[in-house]
This record gives sequence, structure tokens and C-alpha cells, in this order.
Amino acid sequence: MDCHASLTMTVGSGFWRGKRVFLTGHTGFKGSWLSLWLQSLGAQVHGLALDPPTTPNLFTVAQVASGMASHTIGDIRDPATVQKAMQASQADIVIHMAAQPLVRLSYAEPVATYATNVMGTVHVLEAARSTPNVKAIVVVTTDKCYENKEWAWGYRENEPMGGHDPYSNSKGCAELVTAAYRNSFLQASGIAVASARAGNVIGGGDWAADRLVPDILRAFEQNQPVVIRNAHATRPWQHVLEPLSGYLSLAEHLYTDGQAFAEGWNFGPKDDDAQPVQWIVEHMVKGWGNEASWQQDGGTHPHEANYLKLDISKAKARLGWQPRWSLQQALQASVEWHQQWLVGANMKAFTMSQIAQYQ
Ligand SMILES: NC(=O)c1ccc[n+]([C@@H]2O[C@H](COP(=O)([O-])OP(=O)(O)OC[C@H]3O[C@@H](n4cnc5c(N)ncnc54)[C@H](O)[C@@H]3O)[C@@H](O)[C@H]2O)c1
Repeated sequence: MDCHASLTMTVGSGFWRGKRVFLTGHTGFKGSWLSLWLQSLGAQVHGLALDPPTTPNLFTVAQVASGMASHTIGDIRDPATVQKAMQASQADIVIHMAAQPLVRLSYAEPVATYATNVMGTVHVLEAARSTPNVKAIVVVTTDKCYENKEWAWGYRENEPMGGHDPYSNSKGCAELVTAAYRNSFLQASGIAVASARAGNVIGGGDWAADRLVPDILRAFEQNQPVVIRNAHATRPWQHVLEPLSGYLSLAEHLYTDGQAFAEGWNFGPKDDDAQPVQWIVEHMVKGWGNEASWQQDGGTHPHEANYLKLDISKAKARLGWQPRWSLQQALQASVEWHQQWLVGANMKAFTMSQIAQYQ
């Protein structure tokens, strides 16, 4: 079977209709996209997260809450909050995305970053042990969980965890926590838990500070030149819907086939789409038109990885997953989304239409 057909079959097959999904981080950028996608597939989505992390934010702009079965504003650093919300949801499937996700903020707030990303993951897995229906869990980490060797090859799932800065390192720790819970408790209870490592995502509705595409769009809007920190850094960029389709496919395999899929999985772009920052900026300058321009920031900045690529052979071979949109299509979809928002379009409908187009 070709991979394309397989993805269509898994994500669009009716599997999600009526499934109860407990989604942490549903007020965030990726969580809002995923909540909308799950809603469109007929799932009952129950969320747990803090208030949306930015103003504006996709959660509000696309009225994400209106299609959810329930949602709780609460802190995953508090085990009782997680336990109560998950048990009330009677979830079949847990997708854990809530995190402090920014490298630069993790230098300023390392303790809070570890508390959320590591102990928060412990609390989610602990709550799953005492929630009777849970059969499958996807823990979302990042490509930065690997020990970065700054080499040209893509990282494979069996390579060592690491992480130079507190964010990357906390996600490496979350991976180790996930493996320990699998081996010590969850496997024996018949719960299949996997982790998902994806790279930098782009797409409409991201207003986070210190992220390339939101920084670029903010500058364009104000007719300012974009100031770029690290023009030569290469990352595995992809549209947000790409890893989300991977998480959905993985959750379905975990639910249906259990422990055979309970391990770490990479979801990244095609090889050609691991591009330097400069390439992205130049394409966006062209796509935006007007007088858009960019310049290099000459200041010094805390360490961030320069070269990072994922090997996605395993997800292709065993999940039948593969990226669908080129980087150019992903950038175009992001710019279009932002321009629709600027003219006051109905952003729930527009976001749903991009999901339908992707499918
Ligand atoms: N955006 C990317 O490029 C990218 C890349 C790789 C991995 N990831 C991972 O994907 C996930 C989602 O990232 P995002 O870009 O949507 O981030 P985001 O900041 O937009 O959303 C984070 C979500 O986590 C919630 N949250 C944070 N701290 C919390 C706490 N203590 N208790 C409860 N909820 C809390 C926020 O309320 C929000 O809903 C994260 O796990 C992140 O590490 C993101």
C-alpha cells in the first residue's frame, strides 16, 4: 500500500468518531490545531491547560472551546488537578502536549520549565494509571531531546537523549520518564505509551515570542525589517499539521495494536526541507510582498543548536506516515492564514478549511 493512501485511511477512517480524548495543552498553538482536527473527526475532546499563552491566540481566535466536550484551566504541576480532570473525562486516549516550550525562556525560568515538562509528564502518566478506560498515550516531546552532535545526519529514535539548554534537556528527561513509566507500570496495565519527537512547526495562529515565523509576521505587519538572530541555523521545519497527523496515526496504532507501537517516534520533514533560517526569511519576504525586508542581529545570544535533522524512516515504514506539504506550501499556508486573520475572516472556518485541504 502506498504511504499516502495509508495516512488517508488512518486519519479519516472513522476511528476517532466518539473516542474520548484527553488533550493537555489544548489552549496552545499545536493543541488548538489538534483540538479542532479531533473535533472535525468526531472525537469528544477534553482539555487541560493553563490560559492561552499569548494575546492574541489561536484558542480564542478560532473559538476552539466551543467544539470541545469539556475543558479545564489548570496546572499540570499539581497532581490532584491532573488526576481529577483526566478521571472526569473517562478518556480512551491521552495526548500530552502541555509544556513550557521555549528555549530562551527556559534559560530565564529553568526551575519552572523542569517542573512543567518533567514533573508535569509524571503527573499525566500517574493519572493515566488510575483512569480505567485509558488504552493509549502519546507524549509529545521534541527533536531537541537528542544529544546534539551538530552532525549532518538525521537522528534516529534509538540515539541517546541529551539537551544542552534546560528546555531541550527537560524534554530528554520527559522521554526517560515516559520509558520508565512504560516499563514499570503501563505496559503491565495494558496501556500503550509512545513518545513523539517533532521539529519546529509553522502555521497560522502562532504568536509565541522568539519563534521565527511569528517574529517575521509581527515585523511585516509593522512594516519593520525582520531582525534575525541566527541566519545559518538549520531546523527541520514543517507545517503544524504534519506532526499532528503523525500523533493521530500513532495514537490510533497504539489503541488498536498496543505495545508493538509503544516506543519513540520521529516526525519530521522531507530531507530537502531542513533549511537554514535565512532561506525561510527570504521566502517569506517574497511571499508577503510590499516592502518586507530582513537584517542580521549582531548581538550575542544564549546557545541554541545550529544543526538538527530527524530520520523519519521508521514512521514511514511502520506507520505509513509521511510529510505531505513542502516547506514552500507550509509557508504559503501560514502567510495566507495570517492575512485572513488581518482582514477579519472567520478563523475557525478558515482553520478547519486548511485542515480539510491537508487531509
Ligand atoms: N511549536 C514547535 O515548534 C514545537 C516543536 C517541537 C515540539 N513542540 C512541543 O509541542 C507541544 C506544544 O507546543 P506549542 O508550540 O503548542 O506551545 P504553546 O506554548 O503554544 O502551548 C503550550 C500549552 O501548554 C500549556 N501549559 C504550559 N504550562 C502548563 C502548565 N504548567 N500546566 C498546564 N498547562 C500548561 C499552555 O497553557 C498551552 O496550552 C509542547 O510539548 C512543545 O514542547 C513544539
